[in-house]
Amino acid sequence: MYFSTIFCCILVTAIEEVLMIITSELFTIRTEGCTIPGFSKVTDSIKMIVAAPPLTRNCSTPEKLVRANISHIWVAHEVIYSYNVFREDTFYCCYKNFSSSTNIENIMYSECKEFLNVIKAEHEFVQIECYHLDEVIYTDFFLFDFHEEINTSQTDSSLDNNSHSQEPFNVLILGIESMSRLNFHRTMPKTTRFLKERGAVELHGYNKLGDNSLPNLFPLLSGFSYKYVKQTCIQNNIFNVDKCALIWDSFKEKGFHTALGSDSIAGLLGNYEYTLPRIPTDSYLQPFIFETRKLFKNQQYNFHPCMGSKYFYRILLDYIYELAQHLILHKFFGIFWEESISHEDLNSPHIMDDSYVNFLSKLHKNDYLNRTVLIILSDHGMRWGKIVETEQGRLEERLPLLNVLFPEQFKQRYKLAFRNIQHNVHRLTTPYDIHETLLDLINLNSLDDSKIKQRSSAPSSNKSSLFVPISAIRSCSSIGIEEHWCACRRGEKIKVGNNIKTMAATNLVVQINKLLKKYPQCHKLTLSYIYDVYLVENNGNWRIYTVMVKTEPGGGILDGTLTQDKSRWLISGTVSRLNLYRNQSDCVENEDIKLYCYCG
Ligand SMILES: *[C@@H]1O[C@H](CO)[C@@H](O)[C@H](O)[C@H]1NC(C)=O
Ligand SMILES: *[C@@H]1O[C@H](CO)[C@@H](O)[C@H](O)[C@H]1NC(C)=O
Ligand SMILES: *[C@@H]1O[C@H](CO)[C@@H](O)[C@H](O)[C@H]1NC(C)=O
Ligand SMILES: *[C@@H]1O[C@H](CO)[C@@H](O)[C@H](O)[C@H]1NC(C)=O
Ligand SMILES: *[C@@H]1O[C@H](CO)[C@@H](O)[C@H](O)[C@H]1NC(C)=O
Ligand SMILES: *[C@@H]1O[C@H](CO)[C@@H](O)[C@H](O)[C@H]1NC(C)=O
Ligand SMILES: *[C@@H]1O[C@H](CO)[C@@H](O)[C@H](O)[C@H]1NC(C)=O
Ligand SMILES: *[C@@H]1O[C@H](CO)[C@@H](O)[C@H](O)[C@H]1NC(C)=O
Repeated sequence: MYFSTIFCCILVTAIEEVLMIITSELFTIRTEGCTIPGFSKVTDSIKMIVAAPPLTRNCSTPEKLVRANISHIWVAHEVIYSYNVFREDTFYCCYKNFSSSTNIENIMYSECKEFLNVIKAEHEFVQIECYHLDEVIYTDFFLFDFHEEINTSQTDSSLDNNSHSQEPFNVLILGIESMSRLNFHRTMPKTTRFLKERGAVELHGYNKLGDNSLPNLFPLLSGFSYKYVKQTCIQNNIFNVDKCALIWDSFKEKGFHTALGSDSIAGLLGNYEYTLPRIPTDSYLQPFIFETRKLFKNQQYNFHPCMGSKYFYRILLDYIYELAQHLILHKFFGIFWEESISHEDLNSPHIMDDSYVNFLSKLHKNDYLNRTVLIILSDHGMRWGKIVETEQGRLEERLPLLNVLFPEQFKQRYKLAFRNIQHNVHRLTTPYDIHETLLDLINLNSLDDSKIKQRSSAPSSNKSSLFVPISAIRSCSSIGIEEHWCACRRGEKIKVGNNIKTMAATNLVVQINKLLKKYPQCHKLTLSYIYDVYLVENNGNWRIYTVMVKTEPGGGILDGTLTQDKSRWLISGTVSRLNLYRNQSDCVENEDIKLYCYCG
């Protein structure tokens, strides 16, 4: 009774706002349909794991025999002897352009153009082979900024002329493979800050739909479940684009220049499980990436970090930047996926942080971002390794990164839509919702305030554009997220008997006092009341309880999740403080400790 009055008053009064701010740190999301416990970036359970040095090394390579700048390729005669060329009169190099006219399995090379010193680059994808005594002694690949002439006149006249007669926004999607929201904060703090400072919307309840990339990407690209795609869209490992349109087709229809690329052949329908019957987009990096396999002994391995002295992910970023420059006056839809660094190791994305910030800053300086909706996302978190042995890791695996950065002009034009996506930050969302969101970005008229009002009153469905309010009663089962991949606290809550109840509550306070030990200015806490203890998960090996207690001094109401592993009790994530601590904890700075500390 005592508890319910406190609870009601705190939640439903003027302090609600303040409490919302506090709870947003304690819970990833907390709605009627789904509660996801909050974790800080680095908790004790993963501290050692995330401190491990990145797996990836620097790209280093023997001196290249052939080098290039933006327009020419030349032989580095100064290193020719280290390639055992002892008779220069029997040495020459060969320039070939290559391309793929149908699909990636059918890559064609031009005739050889011989050269001895220097040659002008005139194609996007170039292979160089050098011969000595009629044997190939060197092979390399070069990517140049040559793109098919782009037909500006065509697209400009096809712009929608309706209500706004305003230009559409470019849509740029940057995927970072196997990246949870929190791992992005941990490993790419500068990029995170760049986005945050410019007001990017970060969705906290973005939940994956299936284990690996495909079950999460197909819903995003097609709006269909992976199961449906396998049954209906794929024959003989070929994706039937005539039966099932992919999102870039819809953009192309509306006159966007479309582009697709990944820094690995595994990425984005490379050729790894399914092939596309024809080149999917106007610009398509994959034939180049596919051919660079020839540089490696192990051609089956998909995640080579380096091509010579350059990281593959840098090749991807440079490609995107050049393309964006080239298309400066054009409507552009691009989807790009980095894999080569982040797929293999939790901590390696550290090395990409500076490059991503530089890349985004350049786009920003060129006024490209103020015409572009930028979506940075992932398909899932890290799926293996020590991290997934932790409760936090299991949740992070299910909660991929999703950030959307809107130009000011977009926020001005579509006020209600923008307000709604901000509201949806704390809702359960999935890749289906991104698909719906992209459809809205093709058809901006659907985002007018009046349209959004109409759409907001439609019954909620398991796919929803992020521009309309997503229902708080959404749960995993209501929108078809498999139980196993659901990040919401699940399972029947079972009230436990007195013994367990006392044991769990006592252990929660013991664990909190451990956290406080390093802060002698805080009082040791004692248990003063047990509100409730629920068993929420029991998989035989470990049990998970939620425990809500009151402690003294200070009367803090604390809500924690405890894992019981045999006789060991551990706190999972952060213990939530459900009432305000006001000035009780002024003596500490640490945001987490403030929740429990009673200064005295
Ligand atoms: C990689 O190279 C950079 C620049 O040359 C250097 O600063 C850095 O220490 C190197 N890192 C490793 C792990 O060797
Ligand atoms: C690229 O190399 C060629 C041949 O060495 C040279 O003529 C040209 O000036 C170089 N371009 C740039 C931008 O450095
Ligand atoms: C090579 O480039 C030429 C134009 O310079 C083009 O006509 C030809 O189709 C290209 N070959 C291949 C295999 O891409
Ligand atoms: C460019 O657009 C114009 C006008 O729509 C059209 O006539 C022309 O064929 C297009 N060119 C190409 C290469 O698509
Ligand atoms: C768009 O509107 C302008 C001015 O009202 C008109 O001249 C033009 O033909 C329209 N274009 C299309 C594609 O409807
Ligand atoms: C982008 O910013 C530049 C400079 O601040 C401004 O001139 C330009 O009009 C802006 N473009 C849009 C579409 O807002
Ligand atoms: C939408 O949810 C319902 C269950 O509420 C499910 O039957 C249906 O398959 C779901 N659709 C998709 C595309 O997952
Ligand atoms: C905290 O605030 C209360 C009233 O708002 C005041 O009475 C009390 O002295 C303050 N305590 C400290 C330590 O500042």
